[in-house]
Amino acid sequence: MDTNVRWTYDEMKQVGTDYESADRVREYDERMCALRDVRAEVNAILDELGLKDGDVLVEFGAGTGEFAIEASRRCRRVYALDISRTMLDYAREKAARRGAGEISFVHSGFLGYTHDDSPPAAVVSQLALHHLPDFWKLIALSRIHELLAPGGRFFLHDLVYAVQPEKAAASIGRTIDRMRESAGEDAALDYERHVREEYSTYDWIMEEMLYRAGFHIERADYGDFFIVSYLCVKPAARAR
Ligand SMILES: C[S@@+](CC[C@H](N)C(=O)[O-])C[C@H]1O[C@@H](n2cnc3c(N)ncnc32)[C@H](O)[C@@H]1O
Repeated sequence: MDTNVRWTYDEMKQVGTDYESADRVREYDERMCALRDVRAEVNAILDELGLKDGDVLVEFGAGTGEFAIEASRRCRRVYALDISRTMLDYAREKAARRGAGEISFVHSGFLGYTHDDSPPAAVVSQLALHHLPDFWKLIALSRIHELLAPGGRFFLHDLVYAVQPEKAAASIGRTIDRMRESAGEDAALDYERHVREEYSTYDWIMEEMLYRAGFHIERADYGDFFIVSYLCVKPAARAR
């Protein structure tokens, strides 16, 4: 879409956590590697996506590069996008150190990306879509649907509120306490900032948006800390 008209959302600005800060990026990477079994998570997702050697994969909000690096060993090329140049530099350096496959690191976001290769067999986005307000989320999801090859898969992993509004305060309070116990004060402060300043939405809104963008949801997993994973497919066009 034309991201130069004056009413277009500026997705290149940092919302919530500042991922242009080199310190924040390093801390984020260290915390994720301590909190998550990153390699196992990534390989489980890749198994489900069923990539072939000649395939292309696009990742929105690639962050510190863990997913893109593993994915590059299973397909022809990964396009790893992020709006933070600091994240892209960090990920590029990590990819070189680990001898990754073909990765194009692209300074772009959900709304502005233009793809110049064969349609991707898979699109992945983890913990990034919540940076867009809902109006723009559906535009981003529709663009992803348009970008994908027919039959292609979209894996979306993000913080989505699976809670009724009247129970939200108590539930989020407990979640922040558990975050503090399992990952420390900085992680709890980040979670608070997320709820206060970033644009995570309700589960039913996210699911409706995925349907309206044209996806079929094959699997939805509601995990801890309101983290949800959706494995979606772009139905192949019916033969006439
Ligand atoms: C919480 S990090 C997640 C990084 C990685 N995907 C992971 O799972 O660890 C969010 C990332 O999304 C990026 N981001 C924010 N807004 C974006 C947008 N509109 N398009 C693409 N990436 C965006 C941030 O710069 C940051 O690197």
